[in-house]
Amino acid sequence: MPASSDNPTAREPGAFRTHIGSHDVAALASGRDTPFFVYDAAAIRQRIAELGAFDVVRYAQKACSNIAVLDLCRRHGVLVDATSAGEVTRALRAGYGAGGEPPEIVYTADIFDRESLDLIVELGVHVNCGSPDMIRQYGERVGSGAITLRLNPGFGHGHSQKTNTGGDQSKHGIWHTDLADAVAMAKSVGLEVSGIHVHIGSGADMEHLSEVCGAVERLARTVGPSIHTVSGGGGLPIPYEPGEERVSLDEHYRLWRDTQDRLAADFGHPVSLEIEPGRYIVAESGYLVTEIRAIKTMGANTFYVVDAGFNNLARPVLYGAYHPMSVVAGDGRRSDGDVVDVVVGGPLCESGDIFTQREGGYVRTQGLPRAAVGDYLVIECAGAYGASMGSNYNSKPLAAELLIDGPRVFEVRARQTSDDLVRGESIPDYDS
Ligand code: LLP
Repeated sequence: MPASSDNPTAREPGAFRTHIGSHDVAALASGRDTPFFVYDAAAIRQRIAELGAFDVVRYAQKACSNIAVLDLCRRHGVLVDATSAGEVTRALRAGYGAGGEPPEIVYTADIFDRESLDLIVELGVHVNCGSPDMIRQYGERVGSGAITLRLNPGFGHGHSQKTNTGGDQSKHGIWHTDLADAVAMAKSVGLEVSGIHVHIGSGADMEHLSEVCGAVERLARTVGPSIHTVSGGGGLPIPYEPGEERVSLDEHYRLWRDTQDRLAADFGHPVSLEIEPGRYIVAESGYLVTEIRAIKTMGANTFYVVDAGFNNLARPVLYGAYHPMSVVAGDGRRSDGDVVDVVVGGPLCESGDIFTQREGGYVRTQGLPRAAVGDYLVIECAGAYGASMGSNYNSKPLAAELLIDGPRVFEVRARQTSDDLVRGESIPDYDS
């Protein structure tokens, strides 16, 4: 049964996967080292189209910052968020301009490291300040211009406490009751506040996300008619687990539209409405293709041990996140309906290197077809916060990334080589 690329969680547990989009997985893997990521351009285009009602869709590139993905977003009218000098550079490489109205790139952060501040001032990138110190440091450098403010509305929500960016446990944004002081600080260094931005967390539920509309409305009124943009940040959830439903964007948009209309009427000019999703745009497009290298039992548990680890996909070890998985029979076998409840682990020398775990590190099982060593195991919904959070832990190379577009396959990132792994390191010459 060829897999449906837009509903990866719908497979019967005993069924083997054969394809990603129209591509035979074994053919994609042939002559290529596993693990590697595959992104399906069609899925990204579909998600972008669903967000079309918002005036500006600004992609939070931290979710997946490969320049091919950024370029694809750009080609479909999506603007971009950057959180570091590196992300600004990626956006430029993908064809975004530093300026524009609305700004093509917005730098959103809670601090300026010195490199970012220099680059942003040099290029004239718009800044969204998440701390009073950012306002002051930027104003002292540029002396005039407009900024937006990232505010912490005093509440937040996320799929994990670690992704909740609101409330007093969070370091993010300017505290809501400090807004008037922040505006005064901006004025004192020659800056005008032209927009309000609130991002309450990642993988938030729609109830909390809809509360953001009211908070943004109140905060925008505190500033007054200098406000020309409001952004509800990112955080839109996606269905990872079987049975989870896709959120209704229509309802969400309607609430925002009402907020936008009321503010425009109050201020006497149009107010542009931005949304800043990362996960929603790319999560479901992405697959991490691994090879099962060992199968073993540990007491009551059966382990499939694959060649990808939390160096490739950190979400399970960090948050106990669930990812749907499927098995591709290396020798072309088809489903015999035999389902095994297995724990899936990686190669790293660390017991937390488990893809099927709950928060806190306790393993759970997932029902998968009875597999053999040499079969491929595909970790699905891996497009967001997969490759972009990759590391070289245990001196593992960053994985290759492929972009499929209909019948075409593009390698958009080569797997790192052993030279890449030691680049910049040297052994001291003790005798000199
Ligand atoms: N805007 C800002 C200011 C953000 O900090 C983020 C995410 C987003 C937008 C996009 O949020 P999204 O739409 O993707 O939920 N590594 C975690 C997620 C961390 C999110 C960090 N900021 C994970 O794998 O779930």
